[in-house]
Amino acid sequence: MFEVVFHDWRPFSLFNITELRFKGFARLWKKNGEAMSSEMPGPTFSLLAQCKGVVLDIGSGSGVMLSHFNPDLITAVYSAEPAGDLHPELLKNAEKWGFGSKFHAMLCGAEPESLIPALHKSGILDISGKGGVASDGVFDEICCTRVLCGVPHPEQTIKGLYALLKPGGRMVICEHVANPWRTEGRVAARCMQLVYTILGWPFFMGGCELQRHTPDFLRDAGEWDKFDLKYYGPKDCIPFIVGELIKKNGSLEKSYAEAVKE
Ligand SMILES: C[S@@+](CC[C@H](N)C(=O)[O-])C[C@H]1O[C@@H](n2cnc3c(N)ncnc32)[C@H](O)[C@@H]1O
Repeated sequence: MFEVVFHDWRPFSLFNITELRFKGFARLWKKNGEAMSSEMPGPTFSLLAQCKGVVLDIGSGSGVMLSHFNPDLITAVYSAEPAGDLHPELLKNAEKWGFGSKFHAMLCGAEPESLIPALHKSGILDISGKGGVASDGVFDEICCTRVLCGVPHPEQTIKGLYALLKPGGRMVICEHVANPWRTEGRVAARCMQLVYTILGWPFFMGGCELQRHTPDFLRDAGEWDKFDLKYYGPKDCIPFIVGELIKKNGSLEKSYAEAVKE
């Protein structure tokens, strides 16, 4: 807040909660993002390393994850990052990790009403989206690492991402979620998630929610040829799901899963 008033000289920005939230988070992430990314749960790094074709990266942050992609396999990366303060670092990292002109940073969120116009503007979608949802898939891969916990109206947003995936395309997921206390999780950890939420976790953590049922939202988004998500740290207060999902391949000869198996 002090930065907005006394450094940027924009006191009226104090009334823009979304901007403040992104600014606050960007500050935190610029300082700690790299340290918080040296280890990731499960096979996250190897799943990212297999990304190929035209990729949509959701909430790229400062781009620390870009070091795990293989730019030789990738035709283009479209990066949706709504925190403008992270873009200079994001572009620097894209250059550093060899993406050059293949990298397209977009100042937008994952929610269709923000993402679809940004994709249209960047030239990859020739439609501006009917009712905010693209009708045809355009991406070979969509990566969501540590971002779906904070997107608005997650069910519709995930459905929107599903629509953007080509038939047979792959979604890479590494997300923290509600503790699966009914199965492999723990009741105490689920209760702690509730306590942290009441104490203001989403407010202090830039809108991040601890209690999202992201696996259900993903499963319900549409039909999948492969739905492979595993819990990592299921008994923890911040358990993760990591894995890959392959969108049902209606018309194409071979799905991504089949092609990879060969
Ligand atoms: C915890 S960081 C993760 C960054 C990166 N994906 C990683 O794993 O290193 C979450 C990122 O999501 C971004 N974000 C917040 N709300 C978003 C939204 N509605 N759509 C897309 N990204 C969002 C934040 O600005 C932040 O950069």
